Amino acid sequence: MKDARHTHLIHYEEQHWPAQTGNRKSEKQTPLSTLAIATAREVFDLLREDLVAIEQELGRDAASSVSTITEIAEYLREGGGKRIRPSLLLLAAHLLGYSGHGAIRLGAVVEMVHTATLVHDDIIDGAETRRGRPSPNTTWGNEKCVLAGDWLYMQAFRVALEEKNLRVLELLIGLTQQMVEGELLQIQKLGKAVSEAEYYDLIFRKTACLFSVSMRLGSVLAGSGEAEEESLATYGRAVGLAFQIVDDVLDLTATEEVLGKPVASDLREGKATLAVIHSIDHGTARDRQAIQRVLDDRSFDNVTREQIQEILVRNGSVEYAMGLADRYAEQGRQALAHFPDSDFKRALLWVPDFVVAREK
Ligand code: IPE
Ligand code: IPE
Ligand code: MG
Ligand code: MG
Repeated sequence: MKDARHTHLIHYEEQHWPAQTGNRKSEKQTPLSTLAIATAREVFDLLREDLVAIEQELGRDAASSVSTITEIAEYLREGGGKRIRPSLLLLAAHLLGYSGHGAIRLGAVVEMVHTATLVHDDIIDGAETRRGRPSPNTTWGNEKCVLAGDWLYMQAFRVALEEKNLRVLELLIGLTQQMVEGELLQIQKLGKAVSEAEYYDLIFRKTACLFSVSMRLGSVLAGSGEAEEESLATYGRAVGLAFQIVDDVLDLTATEEVLGKPVASDLREGKATLAVIHSIDHGTARDRQAIQRVLDDRSFDNVTREQIQEILVRNGSVEYAMGLADRYAEQGRQALAHFPDSDFKRALLWVPDFVVAREK
């Protein structure tokens, strides 16, 4: 079975899923359960068929009668991506014993919502790279991309409608509003040294909410009880917070080559993320001034990226942020404590490790 999609997925597996992730905490902590954590390959094997089906669904869903929309939607789909949100939805549904087509459909839906936010986010951030390629706004321009993003949102809702389940729509509507509010709040806070509490509110809305809703949708499909849904939502929220904390650390520490999107861009855009907030709160007055200078200038013209990195390292701020990502990862694992052991639970226990150990 070597069709194009199959090859595409293998490609994406190799590109985006590390062969082996180290459990940063395993030496220090007693394991959550006797259940061993799965490996990347095991998780991928577990989801392989479903992920192929989701790629096919995404291919069908990307088609519009207006060619520009199809081109932009296809371009993003081909760019790959980790497909972490649909994977979570699939794992949640399977954990609770569901195996119908709804998980394929809603897996595609959460990926489309994610894609729509990326299109809009790159316009707002003025980004030039996404998934290792020029971002759509650089090729098609902002006007067309705003509209393509809108179309993608609505396409996601159209596909979700096929489930004929009002609860599904309610979750997706609440989610979309939270995400838009998150991006808007972020714009309002640009250039400001926000508090940690404000930071968490923001990253919940813009990222963790979608992780949480992906888990909830899996449990809605399975017709689970409220307690199970809440546990899975807690897991999604914790893993999503860890995910965005790591995304923000990678923006400060990674290279564009590895990350496939711009680096050091948050400070240049006036965004203070967790490690930076920590240095503002715990560094010297000069550290604070240097950081504020970059936030005000929206450039590294007067204070260099290396100077900022030195400040963050000296104050232990990157370690601090990664420590919190580890704590959220652990909170995610703990939320699964009451579910019976299964391959899907092992896979869900692996995801937080993947999230904190990832390099892109
Ligand atoms: C990027 O998400 C946007 C954030 C929430 C940080 P991903 O890192 O999941 O992007 P892809 O889908 O793998 O490209
Ligand atoms: C991610 O915020 C939020 C989204 C919902 C897209 P970022 O601005 O940090 O995402 P990247 O780094 O561009 O992927
Ligand atoms: Mg961005
Ligand atoms: Mg980012």
